[in-house]
Amino acid sequence: LGRNLHYHDSVESTQKIAYKLAYENAVEGTVVIAEEQTAGRGRMDRKWHSPKYTGIWMSMILRPKIPIPKAPQLTLITAVGVVQAIEAVTGLLPEIKWPNDIMINGKKITGILTELQAESDRIHSVIIGIGINVNSQEEDFPEEIRPIASSLAIETDRMIDREELIRAILEKLEKLYSLYLEKGFLPIKLMWESYAVSIGKQIIARTITGEIKGKATGITEDGVLLIEDSAGELHHIYSADIKIEG
Ligand code: BTN
Repeated sequence: LGRNLHYHDSVESTQKIAYKLAYENAVEGTVVIAEEQTAGRGRMDRKWHSPKYTGIWMSMILRPKIPIPKAPQLTLITAVGVVQAIEAVTGLLPEIKWPNDIMINGKKITGILTELQAESDRIHSVIIGIGINVNSQEEDFPEEIRPIASSLAIETDRMIDREELIRAILEKLEKLYSLYLEKGFLPIKLMWESYAVSIGKQIIARTITGEIKGKATGITEDGVLLIEDSAGELHHIYSADIKIEG
């Protein structure tokens, strides 16, 4: 991963650039990195605040030969790789909040956005965007997200070498991705579960169709979240924001 690397000073969104490169058949493992995004995108059409030099804003192109419903597995693989890299470089112990938020002390440090390019019923490319608040200080965050966002610098009280972290991420992800292609999702699912904070807890999942309340019992082989409600009914959650109640 990252042998074909596109580095930019300022872009609207690395995701947008990677999407176009993927469409033009860029080689698998192509990575786009920018110092700043002027229109960074988050999940569910949200904005992703990406000021200059404060974070890692990157997107990468993968082309696994897997059925479309298994694509969410790639988000979970990415989360595991980023957690391992953050642990190795900073010594912090991050946790994963399903599906893709990486948290430290209950605050969000990293978001992952996965987009698909399909060709009839097959995957042409998966574009995985990773946004990490690395050296951001409190005042770099818009007021409304200050209570819920943090950065590696805030949590460690020192500046983190972004290049070292990028290298660590690409290294960890490359290992996990080969493991996945060779052995399937199970070994990675186990790693993911060991970092997950939501499993076994009472949670509320806000989906587009409404709220589901219950106990998060685990994830499926495909990375879908399972919630058991108080009536004992099992719900499959494909996309939602979750809140942990305890
Ligand atoms: C989330 O909502 O949690 C996902 C945020 C993903 C942000 C990253 S930053 C690099 C890439 N480019 C974007 O515009 N978004 C993703």
